[in-house]
Amino acid sequence: MKYVPKHVALIMDGNGRWGKLRGLSRSEGHYAGTQTMEELIDASAEMGIEILTLYAFSTENWKRPQDEVNYLMSLPIKFFNKKLPEFMKRNIKILISGDIENLPKGTRNAVLKAMDKTKNNTGLIVNFALNYSSRSEIVHAITDILKDVKEQKLTLDQLDESVFDNYLYTKGLPDPDIIIRTGGEKRVSNFLMWQAADSELCFVDELFPDFKRELYIRAIEDVYQNHEATLNEWVV
Ligand code: FPP
Repeated sequence: MKYVPKHVALIMDGNGRWGKLRGLSRSEGHYAGTQTMEELIDASAEMGIEILTLYAFSTENWKRPQDEVNYLMSLPIKFFNKKLPEFMKRNIKILISGDIENLPKGTRNAVLKAMDKTKNNTGLIVNFALNYSSRSEIVHAITDILKDVKEQKLTLDQLDESVFDNYLYTKGLPDPDIIIRTGGEKRVSNFLMWQAADSELCFVDELFPDFKRELYIRAIEDVYQNHEATLNEWVV
């Protein structure tokens, strides 16, 4: 690969449909999606991507049937139980972007533990967008800014784009170079709307469980090959 993006963000859409198409439940689709997610974490580390942000649960997802919500909330517990020792060995750091406080206790504890255990790791950052909404993130940032102004920790003339960045859940992370959405829909779905100002958008038709390593690598290559072609045309 000629160019490796620093930060890839992924909207993992299509698990439910994948399950239904096979006569399985939506939750079985999420299980299959988790397997694919593990494969793409490995592929990202091997490719030298520095940050992989995964849209794992949006604030909208609370409206789903209770058994599906319960299943989605159980996934981080099982996932980190299984994967943390390996992440430590492979120097992978876990971050969470989203409203952690309002997660069920078991899920909250599992993600806090994963972040704490891996906090000094210096390899691939896997950033889970969990209980995430871009609009809430922006409102939350504004509330914190107003508080800091009131407490005289910040003056309004100090506020600029990079200061604003520091009030977001993604504080400290560079903006995504590329946002990939699987499952055929061409929407942003309240994901990283501030951070996506200059991101390449890549929409693929495969349902997420089918979006295996080779398709992932090809999607990234396609974006940057097109990019290069445009640049060459421009130069000529
Ligand atoms: C959207 O597909 C996907 C989700 C709501 C969940 C994605 C989560 C994972 C792949 C695993 C998360 C794992 C951990 C450990 C955090 P959908 O169900 O909306 O698909 P549909 O469009 O077919 O209905």
